[in-house]
Amino acid sequence: MVLKLQFGNLAFTTYGNKGNPAVTFIHGFPFSREMWSEQCEVLSKDHYVVAYDIRGHGESSVGSGQYLIEMFVDDLISLLDFLDLKSTTLCGLSMGGYIAQRAVDRAADRFSGLILCDTKSTADTNTAKLNRANQIKTIVDGKKEKFVEDMLHSLFAPASFEKNGDGVEKIKKIMNSTDDHALIGTLIALSARMDMTDSLSNIKIPTLILVGDQDKLTTVADADLMHTKIRGSEVVIVKESGHVSNIENAAEFNNAVITFLEKNRL
Ligand code: MLT
Repeated sequence: MVLKLQFGNLAFTTYGNKGNPAVTFIHGFPFSREMWSEQCEVLSKDHYVVAYDIRGHGESSVGSGQYLIEMFVDDLISLLDFLDLKSTTLCGLSMGGYIAQRAVDRAADRFSGLILCDTKSTADTNTAKLNRANQIKTIVDGKKEKFVEDMLHSLFAPASFEKNGDGVEKIKKIMNSTDDHALIGTLIALSARMDMTDSLSNIKIPTLILVGDQDKLTTVADADLMHTKIRGSEVVIVKESGHVSNIENAAEFNNAVITFLEKNRL
């Protein structure tokens, strides 16, 4: 389904019964809602599940190709309004986690629970900004395949290339199909994002933090920092996983999410 917004279409899928507690999934960069397919299926038995494509990704329109995290949050809130969802648990991976942290800061009363996966609260360091500039140059120079290949090796734990070849291929395909202007616009938005660390102490809803034990992009130390700031939060370290823990070790990831939702009656 699509929601028509000023910039174009926001593509989304809902699963399960609308009367059940809601969980809304936000994907990472540069993926699409397809990355959550296994979680959507598993959770839809007891939940109303929403998964959507961030502007410029998946089946959503690219629009101007100029983005800010704030615009992604606007889109999320427009989608929740459209679906008449008064309350939902938000589950965001990496960039999805940056969006979720801003959404909870802007509209705390709309959210009943928070699941932050393989993400961080800090802004880009100068080194990270320069790395994004190099990634943009690679794409502008017409070497998108190199951008994708390099990123894949940062995303996945080394063993995942053998043990979970299908998962790697799935993510690679999604990345390759993302529009160049959307890639560049999103890299600039990521580079310009706010540091959310000080705002985390305002979070009052149950929060689960998940991180792959081999995540190089958003590390166990990043997860621990968020944990110390969010009162009552819990951390689960997902074994044998890099940055895409919901795919690299779906069994452990799903188990942690289901346990958290059940325990908090979400
Ligand atoms: C992601 O997976 O969303 C990205 O790694 C986030 C980032 O580059 O900061």
